Amino acid sequence: MRRNNLKKAVQYALALGSTLWLVSCDLSDDRIQDTSDIREELNNRKLKKITEGEIYTAVSEAGSFIVAQSTDSLKSHLTGAIEKEGITGAMKYCSMEALNLTSRLSERYDVDITRYTTKPRNSQNMVPEGIEKTILEAYELSAASGNDVAPHIEIQQEDILYMQPIMVQPLCLKCHGELGVDINDESSTTLSSLYSEDKATGYKLGELRGMWRVKFDKKDFIKNMK
Ligand code: HEC
Repeated sequence: MRRNNLKKAVQYALALGSTLWLVSCDLSDDRIQDTSDIREELNNRKLKKITEGEIYTAVSEAGSFIVAQSTDSLKSHLTGAIEKEGITGAMKYCSMEALNLTSRLSERYDVDITRYTTKPRNSQNMVPEGIEKTILEAYELSAASGNDVAPHIEIQQEDILYMQPIMVQPLCLKCHGELGVDINDESSTTLSSLYSEDKATGYKLGELRGMWRVKFDKKDFIKNMK
C-alpha cells in the first residue's frame, strides 16, 4: 500500500517531467521466440537504459511533488488552526501536531520527510552533522548574499536525498518573526512556555528558515521508475 504510494508519486512525477527514457529496441534478434521473451528483453533493456541523469530528473520531480504535498498539508492545518483558535492556539496545535503530520506523510509515501534548521524551535529539528548540515549551511551562505537557493539532490550508497529550501512567507512571521514587532506579548509568552529554548524567531520575510529533506530508499526508487 505504502510502496504503491511511492510508486504513484514517482510515476506521477515522471509523467509530469519531460524526460521519459525511450527504449531503443532492436527486436531483430533471432533468439527471441515468444512475447514473454520479448517483454523480458525489453524490461532488461529498460533497466540498462536508466541513466544517472534520468534518476536526478525523477528524484527532482518526485521530491518536489512530495514537498509540495507536505507544505500544503502543514499550511492548511496551520491556517485552519489559526482560524479556529487564534495564533496562540495554533502554536499549541503546531507543537503537538507538526511532527505527527510529517511522519504520517512519510508513511504515506514510504519515504522519510524531515524539516531541518540551524535555529530550531523544536530541538528535534536541529540539522544533524553530515551532508544535510553541509547543504543547509551552503544554502544559508548563498541566501545571505542574496542569491537564489535551489533544491539539491545527493545520491548515496543506499539512499537518495532530496533537499529543498524553506523560505519565510507572510504567514510565518506571526510565529517566527521579530518578538515585539510581528509576535505580540501573548504569543511570545506562549512560545516560551512551550519552548524554553526557542531559537526560531527574529526572521524576516524572504529569509531562509530551513530545508525539507526527503529520503528515498535508492533501490525502491529505481525499481519504481520502471
Ligand atoms: C501558529 C504559529 C506558527 C506559524 C504561523 C508557523 N509556524 Fe513554523 N513552527 C511553529 C511551531 C510551534 C513549531 C515547532 C513544531 C514542533 O514542535 O514540532 C514550528 C516549526 C517550524 C519548523 C521546523 C524547525 C523548527 O524550528 O523546529 C519550520 C521549518 C517552520 N516552522 C517553518 C515555518 C514556515 C516556513 C512557516 C510559514 C509558512 C511557519 N513555520 C509558520 C509555529 C508556527
